[in-house]
This record gives sequence, C-alpha cells and structure tokens, in this order.
Amino acid sequence: MSDIKDERLAERGRERIEWAAGEMPVLAQIRERFEKERPLAGVRIAACLHVTTETANLVRTLAAAGASVALCASNPLSTQDDVAAALCDDGIETFAIRGEDTDTFFRHIASVLDLRPQVTMDDGADMVSVLHRQRTDQLAEVWGGTEETTTGVIRLRAMAAEQALRYPIVSVNDADTKHLFDNRYGTGQSTMDAIMRATNRLLAGRIVVVCGYGMCGRGVAARARGLGAQVVVTEVDPTAALEAVMEGYRVMPLRDAARIGEVFVTVTGDRSVIRREHLELMRDGAILANAGHFDVEIDKGALAQLATAPPRRLREVVDAYTLADGRRIYLLGEGRLVNLAAAEGHPAAVMDMSFANQALCVEWVARHRDELEPRVYPVPTEIDKEVARLKLRAMDVEIDTLTPEQEAYLRSWEEGT
Ligand code: ADE
Repeated sequence: MSDIKDERLAERGRERIEWAAGEMPVLAQIRERFEKERPLAGVRIAACLHVTTETANLVRTLAAAGASVALCASNPLSTQDDVAAALCDDGIETFAIRGEDTDTFFRHIASVLDLRPQVTMDDGADMVSVLHRQRTDQLAEVWGGTEETTTGVIRLRAMAAEQALRYPIVSVNDADTKHLFDNRYGTGQSTMDAIMRATNRLLAGRIVVVCGYGMCGRGVAARARGLGAQVVVTEVDPTAALEAVMEGYRVMPLRDAARIGEVFVTVTGDRSVIRREHLELMRDGAILANAGHFDVEIDKGALAQLATAPPRRLREVVDAYTLADGRRIYLLGEGRLVNLAAAEGHPAAVMDMSFANQALCVEWVARHRDELEPRVYPVPTEIDKEVARLKLRAMDVEIDTLTPEQEAYLRSWEEGT
C-alpha cells in the first residue's frame, strides 16, 4: 500500500532512527508507558508530518500505544527516503518521496486519509484543509487532531473564526515546551546548518538579514550572530522590532537591508516577504533562504521574471539566477523550508519535547473526545509541565520546589509594603 522511493534504504533509515532515539528520552518514557497501557488501541491516526528520523520515533511511540498510523509528508522536499523505507518495513503505511511533485504530494495525503482516521496530526494544516474541502463526508468520523507549527495554527484559527473548523484541534505549537525550544533552538541551529551545508560559505563577518523576529527568527538571529555574522533584523511588529534592537541587532526596513545583505533568511509565516522591489536592489551573490513553513515568503515568480534564463543548479540545493545586469542571486532549496530541504530539520533533542507533546495530546484527544468542541485547544498545562519535568529528569537536572509559606504568599493579596 505504501508509496516510497526505495525499500532497500530501510537499513540505513533504521540506523539513523536509532541515532535520533538516543536524544529522545522523553518520548522513550512515554513509549514505555504506552506499551503497558495501550491507550490508543485500535485508534486510526493519519499523520502529515516531515518524514524524518524524529518523526519515525513519534510514529513508533503511537504504534506502541496500539494505534494504526499512516504517514505522508508535510512538505515535498523534506522527506528522508531512508526513514520512509524503514517505517514501511516496520509495517507503517508511508506515502512520501523526497522531491515529489504537487500532484503526488496531494495524492499521498489522499492515500493517508483513505485510512479513515479518527485522529489527524498535521504540520502546516494541509491535511485538515483537504479534509474540510474535499472529504467532508469523513469529518464526522474524526474525533480531533493536533497541529505542529505556527503557520498551521494561524490557518486553523482563521478556519475557527469563520466557523469552518469542524473538529477540535490541539495547537501543539503553542505549548511552552514546544515553541520556546523547537522554534528557537531547533530552527536557529538547523537553519544555519542548512545554509552552511548548502553553500559551504563562511558566515563570519557576513551580513545576514533575518526577516521576522518571532520565536524562530530569534533563534536564527542568535545562531547567525554566534557564527560571527553581522545580523540585521526586519520586522513589522513594533514590539518585536524593539526587542531585536535591545538584543543588539540592527533593525531596518527590508528595502534598506536588501542593499547590504549577503544572506537573507525569511522566517515570517507570511507571503511575498522578499519581492521584486527588494530583489532589484540586492548585491551580486546574495543568497536567499526561507525557513518559514511554506515556499511563499520569497517571490520565486519575480525572481524568475527578473532572470534572463532559467536558473542553473550549481550545487545540490543552490539555484543561480542571473539578472539582466549580470548580478547573480542564489536561491536555496527552491525557497522551501531550508532546514529540511538542505539539512535534516531540527535536532532530535528539541523534537523530543515537541513530539512528546504530540503523543500526549493525541492520547488526550482520544480520552476527551466526547467533551471537545470544534475549536482550537491549547495544550493542557499539565501535559506541558509534564514534558518539561521529564526532560529535566532525563538531563539529570534538579530544581527547587516552593515552601508552603511561599505558596501561601503567592495566593495572598493582603501582604505588601
Ligand atoms: N520540523 C522541523 N524539524 C523537524 C524534524 N527533525 N522532524 C520533524 N519535523 C520537523
């Protein structure tokens, strides 16, 4: 039933999944409990996630809980084919091929939905969107779902605001143990890793322009600075811009940054951030990378129009566009999520927490399915705190507890000056 690139890659995938597992102790503890309690026995789960070694560990955890899971890719360029092969070999229905075209991408989503899921797991809300647009007959069977990323949560909130959302979804992205770590340290490290792998360019002393200073942008800016780059931040939100200023970054409009930047990273979650008017101002040799979920942040159409010929692929994920005056602009990973297109995504140590939230939230949805309404739910605080506690324990870090006197003080309003 599966559709993958090459089943002979399974052994290599298995080894890499084992390597990631070594950094995912929280998920391992949850898996141990799931194996004993089987809280998802017989539950059908459709997952549309990046097919990586970390996702494989999540899928195995859900399978250990008794669920039958089918998996497809949440981005055409993020699949690790060896991981898909290993999962398939383990009996997980997997529909994902790195570099698949748009039709195949949506065909794979359809194949996963043929499982007639009771729970959906999304990263970017494409599967939820297909269910709500094309497979409405299935909606009544779905108990609930989870969403992994900021972009997906924005789409779901828009659906909920228009009363279009037909089943409950937990916004895993908004858990503290997700966005404070995965979005910041995960995106920060993996994005710089991807730019370095893709280009092998020295970043020290270079001007790196980070478009967007949300949690992901903060991570990218911090890691770029750590590599010795001069970091410029562009923002539309005054508070975020002010934070970037006080963090010591130069903040300016993109029309000014466009003239001086050497590497540009978009990480806003919005479309058309780098547009024709910016491309026209860029220096020869400017490198463009997108670390936002969808490939809409850099206007690839404008780049193609400005270029005198189709792009030339100079390295595996580097396309060179030559403009009429001879300037070259380099686009990484076709403008798709660079950390997964040109590297391996976030390191396992942060995905451990994100996916622990995912696993526990799926269990929560299954347990509370009769009480939930069709809206976006936050991750329950007890799950978020439990993930933090388990991670600290795995890291051998102890913390203090409040004394009864301190607890009483925090509950009182009478004590003061
Ligand atoms: N999103 C970002 N990094 C990821 C990873 N390593 N696995 C799954 N999803 C991701």
